[in-house]
Amino acid sequence: MLNVTKMYVALFLLLQTVLGANILHIAPTGSRSHHIWNRALAFGLIRKGHNITMLSHSEEKEKFKNFHIILLEGFFEKTYESFSLDSVQTNKFLNVRTIYDYSLYSCEHDLATQGLKTLMNYPKDFTFDLIIIDITLEQCLYPLIERFKNPPVVAVTPFLLPPVLSHIFGNPLQTAYMPYYNTKHTDQMSFLERITNFLLIHSEILYRKYIGIPAESKLAKKYFGENIQSFDEVERNISILISNYDPILCFPLALPPNIIPAGGLHIESVKPLPNDLKSIVDNAKEGLIIFTLGSYLRSDQLSISKRTAILNAFAKLPQTIFWKFESEIDDLPKNVIVRKWLPQNDILGNPKTKLLITHGGGLSTQEAMHHGIPVIAIPFYTDQHANSGKLVNRNMAKILSYDDITTDNLYLAITEILNNPMYSTNIKQLSQRYKDRPEHPLKKAVFWVEYVLRHGSGNFLNLASRDMDTYQAASYDVILALLMGLYLLYSLMSFIFTSCKFIYYRVYP
Ligand SMILES: *[C@@H]1O[C@H](CO)[C@@H](O)[C@H](O)[C@H]1NC(C)=O
Ligand SMILES: *[C@@H]1O[C@H](CO)[C@@H](O)[C@H](O)[C@H]1NC(C)=O
Repeated sequence: MLNVTKMYVALFLLLQTVLGANILHIAPTGSRSHHIWNRALAFGLIRKGHNITMLSHSEEKEKFKNFHIILLEGFFEKTYESFSLDSVQTNKFLNVRTIYDYSLYSCEHDLATQGLKTLMNYPKDFTFDLIIIDITLEQCLYPLIERFKNPPVVAVTPFLLPPVLSHIFGNPLQTAYMPYYNTKHTDQMSFLERITNFLLIHSEILYRKYIGIPAESKLAKKYFGENIQSFDEVERNISILISNYDPILCFPLALPPNIIPAGGLHIESVKPLPNDLKSIVDNAKEGLIIFTLGSYLRSDQLSISKRTAILNAFAKLPQTIFWKFESEIDDLPKNVIVRKWLPQNDILGNPKTKLLITHGGGLSTQEAMHHGIPVIAIPFYTDQHANSGKLVNRNMAKILSYDDITTDNLYLAITEILNNPMYSTNIKQLSQRYKDRPEHPLKKAVFWVEYVLRHGSGNFLNLASRDMDTYQAASYDVILALLMGLYLLYSLMSFIFTSCKFIYYRVYP
């Protein structure tokens, strides 16, 4: 009886620490889509009664209870030249560097913000019960964890599951079937593709370890002081990684217990459209098409000739087209509706929607799969190639490269998708498989954050590989030793053979 009471008391204490935790959510990656995903996770936690302080580049117009944004101000007002439409890096190996350059650039911005000062100026004894950190980029903010006295840390990444990040958590590299995000590879690679994939994944691991991280650590020391904890140590101490990966939306992979797949957690249930859009949708007898290049690329940066080509293709179609476009366009065809912002998820969820034309961003392609809407992808950089390639590989999409956009090419691609039911059938089937699950990925992610809160860590879930060097975990040393052994054996045998021959001919000349 006493034991039972004790158990209840323990359970109650456990619950209490979990009810209303005070959480710092560091979400600095300079991309609005990262904010959308992180924000969705934050709101999942707020609904459970937690208090979230989020460090972000994105502002909130509305105030919400228990949601406090500390703005790393001025980030999106600047433009990062290397990311404009015309200078997209096509060499995959140089692209590895681009990401870390962007990260360092973001760090330089963020470390100088008033927002970061605000957080640093919190009272010395102010504590958070847990820190969530988007580790996709900007490792330079790791010292904030020490600043708030090393509470348990949960890492997240909306960037699906980059091999280099899963590797930090001890995930086997799986280079033979885990496509690098910057390629069109699928999980079925040719021998040559496997070589490239292997080299790209290893280049990024080495680049991050020997160039990316040290550069950010050096920068961080200028701001936080010379005595900060080593980034390796901080990283090694992170409990779990909640990732925007899902085996149905991406490719099946083996994951260690400390990586929690919560792919698509940002996708909400479909809400009714605002009135102006609703009447347009009601009148769209031939169905809807959505065209959006996401939150980072701006459609009004497209060249005028591309814009005209696109509009001419749209004008030939009977469907109504929603184009997310950041400024006004003169002489719009009657069936094209331009808006600065579109409730993309709600339009995709409308039964009249037939096609999504997208840059192939992670979140957009996930939404298309969730709602079973076929896609035309115009990928520009990083994971957009992988996301698009994956859909094409599954016969759910067509890729049109930016250079190839002409009125005819675009019109042909659109009519091919609209007239051939294969695309829509395939993606609708995937949609059903994805939605058939024990719980919404957001619920799963919230559970695991609370799990770490309850148990103070998640490190007991680690594979032992997390503490090994890459070459040990991947057994490269063993393979090398065995090959050398074989070589020695071969040399020994041939030595013996030649010696025998020599003796034989001596004895019987
Ligand atoms: C919630 O977060 C805000 C902003 O960081 C902080 O001022 C406040 O003390 C926190 N509330 C609780 C109950 O922890
Ligand atoms: C590692 O995490 C634990 C638990 O959150 C904390 O007590 C410890 O100080 C951390 N150590 C380092 C080096 O970050």
